[in-house]
Amino acid sequence: MKEKTDCLSDKLLIFGGKKLSGHLQVDVSKNAYLPILAATVLCDGEVFLDDYIPLTDFVCMREILAKLGVKSYETNGGLYLDARGGKNEKIGFEWTQKIRASIFLLGALLGKYKTACISYPGGCNIGSRPIDLHIKGLKSLGVKVLERHGMLYCDGSEMKCGKVCLDFPSVGATESLMMCASVLKGTTVLKNIAKEPEIVDLQNFLNAMGAKISGAGTDQIVIKGVPKLHGGQFSVMPDRIVAGTYLLAAATCGGDITLDRFVPEHNESLLSILKQSACKITLKNDMIRLKADKRLKCVENIQTFPFPFFPTDLQTPIMVLESVSKGHCKLQENIFENRFGAVPELVKMGAKIVVEGRCAYVEGVEKLYGADIFATDLRCGAGLVIAGLKAEGFTTLHNVHYIDRGYDKIEQKFQTLGADIRRI
Ligand code: UD1
Repeated sequence: MKEKTDCLSDKLLIFGGKKLSGHLQVDVSKNAYLPILAATVLCDGEVFLDDYIPLTDFVCMREILAKLGVKSYETNGGLYLDARGGKNEKIGFEWTQKIRASIFLLGALLGKYKTACISYPGGCNIGSRPIDLHIKGLKSLGVKVLERHGMLYCDGSEMKCGKVCLDFPSVGATESLMMCASVLKGTTVLKNIAKEPEIVDLQNFLNAMGAKISGAGTDQIVIKGVPKLHGGQFSVMPDRIVAGTYLLAAATCGGDITLDRFVPEHNESLLSILKQSACKITLKNDMIRLKADKRLKCVENIQTFPFPFFPTDLQTPIMVLESVSKGHCKLQENIFENRFGAVPELVKMGAKIVVEGRCAYVEGVEKLYGADIFATDLRCGAGLVIAGLKAEGFTTLHNVHYIDRGYDKIEQKFQTLGADIRRI
């Protein structure tokens, strides 16, 4: 992914060592919102999404939608979208390199126009991230795909409903196929698909717009195609990764925080680890309170896997917690091949971590020390903010534009919790 030139507003200055306390509301989920934005292409009517936050990924997706004739504007804290008058346009590399989630548009455009032309998305800092599963799934439905000069020319004029079994439960491939099949005549069955809560949210959105989809959250989805989708209103789910980030920050720094709009079923694997670490957790309705008043215990073995297991997107934030807890932890990354970008930065801060292949071996230390550090991707950035908040002295974190893709004004959220952090 292209690096943004460093500039003043792209740095956070953190004076670490303070406990966190206070109350936050969890924002809307980036990973649920992005496919829903793409799916509005299919809607023949106005769509209103109750919440909107100006994440750079949302801004970018709205720019692509505008190119496709989908109007959108913010109002009353939410977002109006109108795809009537939409048009089918080529989506070039200048877009797919900025936002990988643009690949979701492949399924939506094929559903709506039976043809789509989109650039192959580039790799990114966490791995090569191929789209072979998306393509194989669409081919099973009869889409003809031609790859030329980095572009995918997809012809769905002979697309038919049918059965698709994914080789791996890819979140993006599942979502793309759901969008496409929602308006495909007949019944399509998707097997071995991702079970993430964001898939359930996409199903709920599509059904609210007239689709007939069932099974999301299990490993099989049944889609009865409808001729078209209409408009409507929808409330996107809260962000389980953002919630997890704040909980892990409080666990790492110590303190007492409460989050509203928390869904325990979305974060069971994290809650189990936090309890094993000796955090005090109280759940009430959609509220969670986390108290950590002493140095926590390492959990010896943590592995990332597809939902409902521990999410890869919280791998760096939990690595930071383990790096200052008592004991040892073996942290294994099973989803992305290159997701240990934070390790050299944490080592600079005094952490003891050794990486061997897909495993990071962490020996907990008592203290981290502030340093000049660099985020290499979104979740790496979030983890490094936590490290800065914990560390003794000043930390300057560079490449904050990665964090702005998925966290709305992260520094203000942590200021609310009493942290000494500002953008410079
Ligand atoms: C989504 C999330 C991302 C999260 C990831 C895994 C969004 C916008 N992003 O990404 O935050 O980290 O799920 O929970 O929702 N793969 C292939 N071929 C494909 C597709 C995927 O080999 O065609 C591989 C990927 O390289 C990766 C694994 O499958 O190793 C999981 O990818 P996938 O579930 O598709 O993740 P994304 O949808 O890209």
